[in-house]
Amino acid sequence: MKQQTLAIIKPDGVARKLIGPVVSKIENEGLSITAMKLIRMTKEQAKGFYKVHEGKPFYGSLTDFMSSGPCVVMVLEGEDAISRYRKLMGATDYRKADPGTIRWEYATDIEKNVVHGSDSPESAAFEISYFFNALEIV
Ligand code: CMP
Repeated sequence: MKQQTLAIIKPDGVARKLIGPVVSKIENEGLSITAMKLIRMTKEQAKGFYKVHEGKPFYGSLTDFMSSGPCVVMVLEGEDAISRYRKLMGATDYRKADPGTIRWEYATDIEKNVVHGSDSPESAAFEISYFFNALEIV
């Protein structure tokens, strides 16, 4: 099934000049980038994006981190894009990520884990519309 998913290169990834390597892995996987921009979220915008995690112990720190510097936000498209991109990212905890995945190669911390990807069609719809309007997706 053809799907869209929302991908983020987080502030640690942008600061460490990992935009190129991450985009290469996405393109090598055969996923298409159909929208892309560099943004800097405010704390309030980060809280809104991660609302599903409100109340969890890491919510405050996560939203501080996500508003600490620029991020790249992208819409990826392809067959089973949601699960394929999640597989390419590797586990949230980089110590459990499979070899060859983005987090296995680059993440240094469970929070500063370089990338984010939507986890379901419902979250993809919410997350894509959080950053992009229809005219910005080619
Ligand atoms: P992400 O895939 O963006 O989804 C939620 C984020 O919260 C996660 O990646 C991590 O950056 C961060 N996080 C920090 N601590 C934890 C934790 N214990 N479990 C899950 N996510 C965490």
